[in-house]
Amino acid sequence: ASLQALNTFHVDASADQLLELHDPALLPEVLALPQVAGQPLLVLGSGSNVLLAGHVDGTVLVFANADIQILEHRADHTVVRAGAGVNWHGLVMWSLQNGLSGLENLALIPGTAGAAPIQNIGAYGVQVEEFIQAVEAWDRHSGQWVRLDSEACQFGYRDSVFKRETDRYLISAIELRLPLLHDLRLGYAGISEEMQAMGVELPVAADVANAVINIRRRKLPDPDVLGNAGSFFKNPVLPLEQVEVLLQHFPELPVYPADQDSRRKLSAAWMIQACGWKGYRDGDAGVSAEHALVLVNHGTASGQQLLALARQISASVLEKFGVPIEPEPRLIGAQW
Ligand code: FAD
Ligand code: EPU
Repeated sequence: ASLQALNTFHVDASADQLLELHDPALLPEVLALPQVAGQPLLVLGSGSNVLLAGHVDGTVLVFANADIQILEHRADHTVVRAGAGVNWHGLVMWSLQNGLSGLENLALIPGTAGAAPIQNIGAYGVQVEEFIQAVEAWDRHSGQWVRLDSEACQFGYRDSVFKRETDRYLISAIELRLPLLHDLRLGYAGISEEMQAMGVELPVAADVANAVINIRRRKLPDPDVLGNAGSFFKNPVLPLEQVEVLLQHFPELPVYPADQDSRRKLSAAWMIQACGWKGYRDGDAGVSAEHALVLVNHGTASGQQLLALARQISASVLEKFGVPIEPEPRLIGAQW
């Protein structure tokens, strides 16, 4: 089965078989099928955070359950449950149309609800962990359905238990707790300016979503037009002392707060641009001219060609800045 439409790099790769699961209750039976059991298994949502480096052995499983339910309506919050197959941006828009807020800064992130907790999706000053009440999953270790609360998910920057224990949990649904009254998050560079340009004076959540959508459309290539997986590298997080030394050599280097006070997050895009890669192209593998952190497929680049370019980029950043950068998308069929 071809996976070309199932990865936003539009790399031409295939899998032995592709299964779409509409009813997660059937998962145990599906996993026991002779053509599935004992073979490699990979779950994919929309393939917007993977790099397929070659043929995928075994089964690719796609959750197609796309129902949204309200589980609980309280005076101060609402709990919403979304099937793994729900489109993330669609869920954000649904929540806003239903008078709920919280997810507005996460508008227009590609992918599925089921994948949102995997790397704890984040943008414009918000990460999804703030709203996740629970993740429902099949635990392949115990062979049981489990419900992980937010703490059990071990969320971090672009990180969670699901990323660390790769392929252990097959996520069937997520539960989001959305507050009724909530302070809009307008601090991230560009949001207030964008709303001013939009003529918005007293912003509501939907205005923030529209501002985020406008900024993202300007800055990030649309994967339907030019294959990409968003940021190809994570922003490196380093001890403060190391950052201070770097700033002596590169005073313009953008520095952001990190999870711990003793650490700082650096802009990988800035370092990659400083190494001259922005807009670079070798065959069909390239670096976006809009955003230096985004690798792009101009047509028929293979996963291996994109990976080779990523390695060159990280080697040059390491040489110039002494800072290792790591891929954000999951590499399938290759090691970093
Ligand atoms: P996939 O790419 O299909 O899968 C990603 C990983 O999750 C794989 O390891 C896969 O095995 C696993 N997985 C997927 N579904 C399940 C499931 N149901 N159960 C268990 N494992 C599963 N990310 C951000 O955080 N912030 C951004 O601002 C952002 N912007 C982006 C912009 C663009 C243009 C693109 C292309 C990507 C961007 N991303 C961003 C990355 C991507 O959108 C997110 O990581 C998204 O959550 C991936 O969803 P997906 O359904 O496509 O997952
Ligand atoms: N910059 C450059 N050159 C560029 C682009 C950016 O020097 O070509 C510098 C600028 O100084 C800019 C700074 O980098 O101010 C930050 O850029 P941006 O706001 O685009 O954020 P980012 O750090 O590059 C991160 C996430 C994005 C998320 C945005 C917005 C990571 C790895 N990426 O990008 O997430 O949308 O912030 O919050 O953390 C993704 O994960 O796929 C993704 C797109």
